[in-house]
Amino acid sequence: MLRTHTCGEIRIEHVNTQVILCGWVQRIRDKGGLIWIDLRDRYGLTQLLLEEGQTDPAIIETARSLGREFVVKATGEVIERKSKNPNLPTGDIEVRLQGLEVLNPAKLPPFLIEDETDGGDDLRMKYRYLDLRRNPVRRNLELRHKMAQQTRIYMDGQDFIEVETPVLIKSTPEGARDFVVPSRMNPGEFYALPQSPQTFKQLLMVSGFDRYYQIVKCFRDEDLRADRQPEFTQIDCEMSFITQEDILQMFEGLVRHLFKTVKGIDLAEVPRMTYADAMRLYGSDKPDTRFGMEFVELKGAFDTVDLTSGKNFVVFDSAELVIGINAKGCAEYTRKQIDELTEYVKRPQIGAKGLIYVRYNTDGTVKSSVDKFYSEDDLKQWVVQFQAEPGDLLLIMAGDAAKARKQLNELRLEMGTRLGLRDPNQFSALWVLDFPLLEWGEDENRWFAMHHPFTSPKPEDIPLLETNPGHVRANAYDMVINGTEVGGGSIRIFQRELQSKMFDFLGFTPEEAKAQFGFLLDAFEYGAPPHGGIAFGFDRLCSIFGGADSIRDFIAFPKNNSGRDVMIDSPATISPAQLDELQIAVAKK
Ligand code: AMO
Repeated sequence: MLRTHTCGEIRIEHVNTQVILCGWVQRIRDKGGLIWIDLRDRYGLTQLLLEEGQTDPAIIETARSLGREFVVKATGEVIERKSKNPNLPTGDIEVRLQGLEVLNPAKLPPFLIEDETDGGDDLRMKYRYLDLRRNPVRRNLELRHKMAQQTRIYMDGQDFIEVETPVLIKSTPEGARDFVVPSRMNPGEFYALPQSPQTFKQLLMVSGFDRYYQIVKCFRDEDLRADRQPEFTQIDCEMSFITQEDILQMFEGLVRHLFKTVKGIDLAEVPRMTYADAMRLYGSDKPDTRFGMEFVELKGAFDTVDLTSGKNFVVFDSAELVIGINAKGCAEYTRKQIDELTEYVKRPQIGAKGLIYVRYNTDGTVKSSVDKFYSEDDLKQWVVQFQAEPGDLLLIMAGDAAKARKQLNELRLEMGTRLGLRDPNQFSALWVLDFPLLEWGEDENRWFAMHHPFTSPKPEDIPLLETNPGHVRANAYDMVINGTEVGGGSIRIFQRELQSKMFDFLGFTPEEAKAQFGFLLDAFEYGAPPHGGIAFGFDRLCSIFGGADSIRDFIAFPKNNSGRDVMIDSPATISPAQLDELQIAVAKK
C-alpha cells in the first residue's frame, strides 16, 4: 500500500504517530507563515500543516504549486490541533508534513467538488466521475451497496437462490417498448433486452427452484421521469407453492429488514388497501400515506350522496363527481394563495377547469367561491360531510369521475408538500391489493393486461371475463412507500389453458401466442407448480431510503432525460462497416 492510513481514520490517539496518506487536494489555505491543505479520499478529510521555518522549504514550494484535485502522497507526524473542528471526525488532529509527493497533477475541475456544488445537472453528468467524488453522491452509492448486501443476506436467509438470467432475449411484455440488439449471425433478426426476467423466473419455478431472486438490470424504452431510467435494477423474486398472503409476508419482511439494518428504523406493519379504495380515497393507486387528507364526495359517482344538485350551478349539476379535500387550518389562505392553487390545477399537465373553495372561518361563518348558488346552510352541510372544523379550507373539484380523482390527487400532493406533510425522513409503506386484471386501451380499442399477461385473475372473478372484463380483479399487488410504487407482482397463471385464454383475450392469435410465448405454454405442460412473485425497483427503493425524489443520484452512471449518457456520448452512430456486417440499412435523417 502507498499509504498507512486513510484520510478518515486518524484520531487523537494517533498523536505522535508517523503516517502516510494519499488523496485529492480539497482546499489549500496559505496564510504566509502557515499553510493548510485539506486532503480528501473516500473515507474523509485530514488537515495537513506546513509551517515556514519548520517545514522543509522544498516541501513548502511543492505545496504552493498544488491545485485543487491534485493527487498527492503526504508523509508526516500526527499532532493535536490548536483549534479543533468538532464537525469533522478527524477534527482534533492535523498532520505536520515531512514529505509531499505529487502523484498526479489535475486540471481545474469544471465545478466545485464540494457538498454544495456550483455545477449544473448537465455539467455534472458530463463529468460524472468528478461528481462521484462529492460526499453526497458517494454516500448514495454506499447506501445502495448496503441495500444490496442486506437484500442478499435476507434472501439467502430465506433459502432463495440467486440465479442469473440472460440479457439477450426476446420481448417480455411489461408495457414499455423493447430495446433491441441486432444479431450478426442471424441477419435481419434481433434480440430484445429484458424489460424484466419475468418469463425466465417462471420457468425456474417449473424447473423446481422453488425460491429464486436476482438483483438484475432491466431495460425499458419509455418516457423518462425522475423515478424512471431506461436501464434500472430490480430485486426480482419468485416463489412456488405459495398464496398471495405468503408473498406479502415474505416481502414485507424484506422491506422491514432493510429499514432495520440500513436505517435503524422499525417499520410499522404495512397496512393494506384495495385498489378500489385507493382510487376512491386518494385518486391514485400509489397514495402517499404520510398524511391523510382523504377525498370526500359531495356528489358521488354512484348516487351515494348528492349535496350539490338543483341549485343551478351548472358545473356541479353536469358533473359525474364532485369531490374535495380538507386542507386543515388553511381557511386564512389569501386570495393569492388560492389563485396559485387554481393555476396549479389548471396547468396542462393536470388539466382541471377550475377549483372551488369553501372557507370555514374560525368565527364559524362559511364563505365560498360559489356563494351565488349555495346558501350558508347548504355550505354547512358540506362542512359536515367533510367533518371540517373552524379554520379549515375545503378545496373542491368536479367533472368526469376518473379525471376529477386524478386531478384532485395532484392537488392533494401539492397541498401535502405546501403544508410540510411529506417529510422525506418519515416512511409510510402500503400494500395496494386487488388491482384490475385488465385496462382498456382507448387508442388500440382492446384490453391490455394491467400488470402483465401472466397475472392470474381472482378465481371468483373468472366468469366476469365473458361479461364484464373491466371488473375482473387480479391477484396482483404493489408496494407503495411515500407515494412511490417501489414494487409490484402477482400470483401467476400456471395452467396452459388459462394462459392461452388470456393471450386470446389480449388479442393474440394462437399463432402469435405460440410464436412469442410458445416456450412458456409448453413448459406449463410439464408440471408447472402454482407460483407467484414480485419485483422491487431497487433504484427507487434506494432513493426513498436516501430521502430523495430522483433515482439518478443512486445510479453510478445514469442517463439524462433524453436517454443519453452524455459522459460517454451514447447512443452513437456506428460505422458503415458495422452496419453492413449487421445487414442494417439506416435511413438518412
Ligand atoms: P413492474 O413492471 O411493476 O413489474 O416493475 C417492478 C418495479 O420496477 C420498478 N420500475 C422502474 N424503476 C426505474 N425505472 C423504470 N423505468 C422502472 N420501471 C419499473 C418499479 C416497479 O414497481 N415482472 C414484474 C414483476 C412481477 O410480476 O414479479 C415487473 O417487472 O418500482
